[in-house]
Amino acid sequence: MYFTVTPSSVRDAALSVPGDKSISHRALLLGGIATGRTEVSGFLAGEDCLATLAAMHSLGVQVERRGSTELSIDGVGLHGLRAPADELDLGNSGTAMRLIAGLLCGQEFNSVLVGDHSLTARPMGRIIRPLTSMGASIQSDDEKPPLRITGQGRLDAIDYPLPVASAQVKSAVLLAGLYADGITSVTEPAVTRDHTERMLVSMGVRVLVDGSQISLAGGQELIGCDVQVPGDLSSAAFVILAGLLARNAELVVENVGINPTRTGVIDILLTMGANLTIENRRSLGEEPVADIRVRSSELRGIEVDPALVSLAIDEFPVLFVAAAAASGATVFSDIGELRVKESDRIAAMANALRALGIKIEESPDGAIVHGGRFAGGEIDSHGDHRVAMSMAVAATIASGPVNVRDVEAVDTSFPGFSRAMNSIGGDVEVIKDTAQ
Ligand code: S3P
Repeated sequence: MYFTVTPSSVRDAALSVPGDKSISHRALLLGGIATGRTEVSGFLAGEDCLATLAAMHSLGVQVERRGSTELSIDGVGLHGLRAPADELDLGNSGTAMRLIAGLLCGQEFNSVLVGDHSLTARPMGRIIRPLTSMGASIQSDDEKPPLRITGQGRLDAIDYPLPVASAQVKSAVLLAGLYADGITSVTEPAVTRDHTERMLVSMGVRVLVDGSQISLAGGQELIGCDVQVPGDLSSAAFVILAGLLARNAELVVENVGINPTRTGVIDILLTMGANLTIENRRSLGEEPVADIRVRSSELRGIEVDPALVSLAIDEFPVLFVAAAAASGATVFSDIGELRVKESDRIAAMANALRALGIKIEESPDGAIVHGGRFAGGEIDSHGDHRVAMSMAVAATIASGPVNVRDVEAVDTSFPGFSRAMNSIGGDVEVIKDTAQ
């Protein structure tokens, strides 16, 4: 499947984007091991979260889907999960695999976690090491999936300084910590998204946050609760970019999560000169939300503050496109983690931008993007949803049509992306490859 994007005029509009992916995964995982019912609204029915839903179902959790974004989860309690009959297939989702691995190490039964081609290439040593030091037994193929977990029934608490800033690793250790004797602590080298901690608190778990250290005692009961999932800022970022790049448009993206551990993209775009305002701030449970108003802007190149990297970790494809459309050069440093996402995002974005005539210099953990004009052309997204969507937005202001190849994975995080783009004046056609 590919997108054919014809240069188009994004116009004034108000819209919302699908639910937050990170929060939707956590609602299923935590709701599944809670006592009682968890009602979820605004759930992201994208393939990644549906893989987590299927996995929880295989582990004995009843999840009723009422409409596309409403779920009712009948929690089985901390010790109520059942051995799955088969391997758990987590598709493209690193979040699902790493968090579920944390959850399954302390169970009484064995399990096997598998994923697609991209997930099978992603590093799992970062969770295997701390979980093993808690007493878990995980066999892997050179620290890559499949993960074969031999359930230990109980684990030992650890005090773990995270070597990489990763919410997935932090969450895996904290979930395992629920099954450990004593107090499990993680210390972060940089702030990462804290949705796990916030949702645990909503479910009655005592989580102690002391500076960069997060701790919880094992054995605590989770109590099911209502979870209202805000729109995903990581998906809103594509629409925001479309509004910024347009010639004369004003867009409002409604009901977007603005948890401060996620808003690095807003800070970076503001520094680049974006005309962007946060309005109507409010809360959905433990999570802050707002409407984001964006007007077409003249962006300028900057040196991106490395302290913002972990707060904008999924938005670098968007920021690379913003940089390519800005005047002057933008310097990105300390972004080596992008090389182990759904694709090597530094390389994938560099190739994609070069294909449209942009000059970009790559280093092992950084890039310098020189502002220019996008030509028409052909792009390979390397099966990476965020690369595909970022380049589709770049194409709205290209001098000719752009084909973005290999875009199936867009449904992992933003089902309805092309419809959303077309509703704001874009011209994104989805074309199915004919059988070879
Ligand atoms: C996520 C954490 C991030 C992010 C991913 C979602 C999460 O990964 O890139 O899309 O939901 O915890 P890392 O924690 O590995 O940086």
